Amino acid sequence: MDIINERKERVKWFRNDRFGMFVHWGLYSIIGRGEWVMSTERIPLEKYVPYAKEFNPVNYDPSYWAKMAKKAGMKYVILTAKHHDGYCLFDSKLTDYTSMTSCDRDLVREFVEAVRTEGLKVGLYYSLIDWHHPDYPKYNDINHPMRGNEAFKDEVIDFNNYLRYMHGQVKELVTNYGKLDILWFDYAYENLRGEAWKATELVQMVRKHQPHVLIDNRLETSGEGFGSIVTAEPAYFCGDFASPEQIIPPEGIRNVFGDPVPWELCTTINNNWGYNPTDPHYKSASLLIRKLVECVSKGGNMLLNIGPDGNGRVDAKSIQVLKEIAVWMERNSASIHGCDNAGISKPEWGRYTKKGNKLYAHVFEAPIGPLALTGINKDSILSVRRLADGSEIKRGESWVTNEYKDIPFVCLGELPHFSYPLPDDTDTVLEITLKE
Ligand code: GLC
Repeated sequence: MDIINERKERVKWFRNDRFGMFVHWGLYSIIGRGEWVMSTERIPLEKYVPYAKEFNPVNYDPSYWAKMAKKAGMKYVILTAKHHDGYCLFDSKLTDYTSMTSCDRDLVREFVEAVRTEGLKVGLYYSLIDWHHPDYPKYNDINHPMRGNEAFKDEVIDFNNYLRYMHGQVKELVTNYGKLDILWFDYAYENLRGEAWKATELVQMVRKHQPHVLIDNRLETSGEGFGSIVTAEPAYFCGDFASPEQIIPPEGIRNVFGDPVPWELCTTINNNWGYNPTDPHYKSASLLIRKLVECVSKGGNMLLNIGPDGNGRVDAKSIQVLKEIAVWMERNSASIHGCDNAGISKPEWGRYTKKGNKLYAHVFEAPIGPLALTGINKDSILSVRRLADGSEIKRGESWVTNEYKDIPFVCLGELPHFSYPLPDDTDTVLEITLKE
């Protein structure tokens, strides 16, 4: 089977599940100023490593995280096994800079077991970047905490030694933690792309041990680009999906032939990936629901991030937002899971998603009078029901619609020329059953 068809087979569950949880958690969660704090504050190793001695997450409860994700309709959970600071939440034979040293716990093992217990798929994020390893570039690197530091100007490193370490750790993750569903690399930049990471060799090793695992596109790029996955000749290591970061692709993502490319928006619940208690800018549940609908309506997924604190606790505001999403998903998840781009122009009142002969109208804005189901052949409609409660939605053709014969209308109440408030201000979903 060629690379394109192999990928199509591999990503079927991913394109069905649509909604996942991202968890950024590590030593930076103690500091509480985001996961890049070591770089942004140019913290030298001698000041950063002591946090590893302090790290003892007594409130770590991955089962709680997994239950919260499941209730919110998330079908997979991805944890940072190692972020850019190089600290490992897993037992590695290649370094003692791990949670085994800090608190004698393999936090990744606890995580994968808890997530699988909830019937969700597991993913591990692994940073290609490593600000702890002695053979990672420093002085001329654009991100390293010691960038431009004269003390490192003439330092001689053996980058191949770092690559052996990085490949070795990836091998530990793909051989020691059971079946992984997603391996989320992060990220390629400047001249560190593709074969600079020995990406072909790396992916061959990963596929040998985890033939079904999905890999993102960040061996080649980062949140700013798509990489060769959209080109006529995708590289072997192009990944299985594109990973736009903090932006929903205005038109979705297609390759040069116009074929849809699997993609996943990764976004934060406030503005930080890692824990930051000074960041009050949380996205509302209402916004996140509408953005999840937007992603699915454009053929994509949403990976929504939470950043637990250094003790392992999730903050109250994040919990509240996820609970509100859970209330909506409990009644409306059929319009998300298994759905895709409906192939219909976006209506002015919201969005469409589609699954087989079920078309879902996501109504964000109440109409004056009847609701125009633009883009739908009026003779193709068998029934319309409110998804949340199964109640019948009457057709809305009447004297007010006489001039619009080709457009099907529905009525959100008794009389088509009356106006009614939306039952759900965030997103009232109408399930339209179409003739097969
Ligand atoms: C960016 C950030 C990194 C974060 C990632 C999530 O690459 O640098 O901290 O983990 O986005 O997509």
